[in-house]
Amino acid sequence: MFNELILKRESCRNYNGEPVNTDLLIKCVDAARLSPSACNSQPWKYYIINGGENAEKIRDCIQPNGANKFVQNCPAFAIVTEQPATLKPAIAERIKDKQRWAQNDVGLSVAHYCLQAADLGLGTCIIGMVEEEKVREYFGIEDKIRLVIATGYSADEKPRNKVRKALEDVCVVIE
Ligand SMILES: Cc1cc2nc3c(=O)[nH]c(=O)nc-3n(C[C@H](O)[C@H](O)[C@H](O)COP(=O)(O)O)c2cc1C
Repeated sequence: MFNELILKRESCRNYNGEPVNTDLLIKCVDAARLSPSACNSQPWKYYIINGGENAEKIRDCIQPNGANKFVQNCPAFAIVTEQPATLKPAIAERIKDKQRWAQNDVGLSVAHYCLQAADLGLGTCIIGMVEEEKVREYFGIEDKIRLVIATGYSADEKPRNKVRKALEDVCVVIE
């Protein structure tokens, strides 16, 4: 059930260190690929890192000032980049900032990735604290780097309760 999946998906900060099959990571990116985007522009590209020296390097990029220490035990990562948006001509000519919706699009695709991962029994944590310059240096990625998604198996037995604003605080029905 979709609602169960939503409750199951949480930010995993406690990985058991078990390796992840690369095919599962690709499946998560495939779900991200099917996400909606403005003008169907799909302004994203995912770079997958699974274990080894590259995992060491990306861990070094997402722990600025001692943040995100939990990634030490996480085996796999997706570097999420924003690509130039290709809007429909009729829309592009009316919009000054062609990247106006691109961050929304990337965020939506990341949600798809994380929900697919949860459905496959994988834990994820979206990491915004990314040292972009380091990522460029290590991996030679020129694109705009938006996020990294830590991906691995959780060592926690069951999901935490969600801490969220009340529905009435975020939902207004305009009559
Ligand atoms: C854009 C974005 C950036 C985030 N960056 C970090 C981060 O750098 N480190 C971290 O531990 N969690 C990060 N998170 C996870 C949030 O803290 C988490 O989603 C939120 O507290 C809700 O908890 P839940 O994901 O467990 O439901 C990020 C989430 C988003 C959407």
